[in-house]
Amino acid sequence: MVDQNKIVFFDTTLRDGEQSPGCTMHHDEKLRMAHQLTDLGVDILEAGFAIASHGDFESVRAIASEIRGPRIASLARCKREDIEAAARATEPADRSRIHIFLSTSDLHLAAKLQITREQALDQIAEMVAFARTLVDDIEFSPEDATRTNPDFLVKVCEVAIQAGATTLNLPDTVGYCVPQDYADMFRMVRERVPGIENIVLSAHCHDDLGLAVANTIAAIDAGVRQVECAINGIGERAGNAALEEIAAVLTVRHDRFPFQHNIVMNQIFATSQMLSQCISFGAAPNKAIVGANAFAHAAGIHQHGVMVNPLTYEIMTPESVGVPKNSLVLGKHSGRRALEHRFVELGHTLSKEQLNEVYARFTELADRKKTIYDQDLLGLLQPDRAAVTVS
Ligand code: KIV
Ligand code: ZN
Repeated sequence: MVDQNKIVFFDTTLRDGEQSPGCTMHHDEKLRMAHQLTDLGVDILEAGFAIASHGDFESVRAIASEIRGPRIASLARCKREDIEAAARATEPADRSRIHIFLSTSDLHLAAKLQITREQALDQIAEMVAFARTLVDDIEFSPEDATRTNPDFLVKVCEVAIQAGATTLNLPDTVGYCVPQDYADMFRMVRERVPGIENIVLSAHCHDDLGLAVANTIAAIDAGVRQVECAINGIGERAGNAALEEIAAVLTVRHDRFPFQHNIVMNQIFATSQMLSQCISFGAAPNKAIVGANAFAHAAGIHQHGVMVNPLTYEIMTPESVGVPKNSLVLGKHSGRRALEHRFVELGHTLSKEQLNEVYARFTELADRKKTIYDQDLLGLLQPDRAAVTVS
């Protein structure tokens, strides 16, 4: 029975994320991340692609042995040897899943696989049924689903269900879809595929047009109950849908999306930080939820508003996603009140006259320096020491 009230989080940071440039992780880093993803509350953890290399196999197997809580999945092509490797690697897990994929768009069938539609259907039927003899939880993904002929996609879904798939993931592999089209595809499949009501439908979106999260949310509106995503939105090319953004949408806009989910929101920042330490780059400063500026207020009017009542310019508190505290960035746009506030935090309560004097020196310094540090501020209290520090 599919729980219509719950959104299942399928994390692919260690598979789709890890396979992208600059995101390779060592065995120990994958294990650390897997523990943190467990603390974060992901429901399904795609630990890797077991057949890809000896190292990948060992990492999937170690995660399946150590991690308790999430279901552990391994990716597999629609081939016997891949499926066997995925089953062996995930075997130590309490609960495991084999995630099988095969391209179904005419472009991929002809150019990449050089097989006909009929051959693809036969391969899906045979390999999904084979996988079901090894593991009872099977996800099937028709790769490039959003560019697959709709009638053929219906047939593919039918065949996969008949062969024993329990989750059907329809990926926007190349990040081509817009939200309405992605939602319509799921509605079409739900209307036309017999037995689909007993299957979990899953969204897997790439961000080539910057629409991965929007498409995922549209899919939820169309009946999808599993979302595939990665921390900081890492993944092939422009990345996957960012887990933290989907979770924040469901939490902040619970009025609009009244679903349950298991993500522990205040673990988001720690998870994002750990990932940044494991891979070659961090989140962009203006990245939603986890970027350095996501809760930073630089404009004087905004700073004043946030000090009076954070709800004026914040739709969630930084603490709710595990960010230590909001940062009022002091610079040339900052107002007198923000300056006064920071001095109080630094242990100096200024009189009105003192504040006026210090503020004049502050604006003069801010014209010269991009970022004003606390030691610069303290220097402003003793004018002859002002602007000694460098950016
Ligand atoms: O983007 C994609 O199509 C994939 C599949 C393997 C699900 O990552
Ligand atoms: Zn993908």
